[in-house]
Amino acid sequence: MNAQVAPGGQSFAGVFTPVNRFSKDTRDRIGRVAAQHRGEFVDFGEISPERLAQFHSQYAPRLGHLHLLRKAYQELGHHNAVERYEFEYGTSAWENLLLAVLSVSDGRANRAELEAAFREPNYGFWCPLEDRRMFEQIVGPLALSEGRVVDVGCGFGALLFRIKEMLGLEPAVLFGLDISAPAIQLLNGKGVEGKAETLSQAHSQGFLGPRVARLVCLSYFVDRDDNQRGTFEAAAAITMPRGKIVVDGLFPVKPEDSLGTRYDGDSSRSITRGESAEDDIARIVQFMATLGCALERICTGERLVWSMDGFELLSSTYLVFKRGYLN
Ligand SMILES: C[S@@+](CC[C@H](N)C(=O)[O-])C[C@H]1O[C@@H](n2cnc3c(N)ncnc32)[C@H](O)[C@@H]1O
Repeated sequence: MNAQVAPGGQSFAGVFTPVNRFSKDTRDRIGRVAAQHRGEFVDFGEISPERLAQFHSQYAPRLGHLHLLRKAYQELGHHNAVERYEFEYGTSAWENLLLAVLSVSDGRANRAELEAAFREPNYGFWCPLEDRRMFEQIVGPLALSEGRVVDVGCGFGALLFRIKEMLGLEPAVLFGLDISAPAIQLLNGKGVEGKAETLSQAHSQGFLGPRVARLVCLSYFVDRDDNQRGTFEAAAAITMPRGKIVVDGLFPVKPEDSLGTRYDGDSSRSITRGESAEDDIARIVQFMATLGCALERICTGERLVWSMDGFELLSSTYLVFKRGYLN
């Protein structure tokens, strides 16, 4: 696929940047972690060219605007997580964002065009859970027909809505959490309950009580979570016995992005160490076992992201746990 040239005259190299495409060897080592913990291993391999083309055609018309946003973010020197999410999901400081983008646009875009372009979130993704066949292979049968479906790091709810469609659920069953307030406003606007909190805050404040969820998705933010320990503990606490917890992540876990934004906090709250994919995965599996959550399956595949980092092709590993009756 050819690089797309944005209005600013630059391009995102190759359109899809393969950020950490796993080798067969890495996938084999992850498979061995699954076997050591008596879990099944499913390897979806590389993403299909059809999927790449479909994702590209969905987001390519907005590539130029994404470029402007990235430039504005860099020039403003905004390098913290909260501001990054505001840029991605829209913001309460909308006027400032717009002015920043206008100031780097070299007069090529006018205010009305930019306002229209940024009204939609500046973040999009495709992940294997969105595909019905892959969803069934990853999550497996759900033993429970009651309880909430919770997505943590849900953004504006794209995955929640897809799960609702696939499982034929009522909107009242869904619950989304994301630390980005604008993302949760978008979610609430679509009639779904959600809070701009971390999972451990939502649990300790009583928004999600003990054993209320049949399925908890910790969706692709393990590298941005400064309290993995608290997140996993709360996930185990809110899940019903026989319910499932699906941790989808980018491994090995590096708490930073290509724009220099760092996401790490107190290292005593981290479970992962970032040494290798299989080591981080094994650490999470061991920790979850102490919380009464047994590994059922590990799946490796690839996903796509469209964000200020550009178009990215990333490995995606799913760790699927079943909550036992103990703890
Ligand atoms: C890389 S994006 C992933 C979004 C989407 N779930 C996906 O699969 O592409 C990370 C998301 O997690 C959110 N987030 C980061 N840290 C979080 C935390 N501790 N608790 C809840 N959400 C968090 C961010 O606001 C952002 O929406």
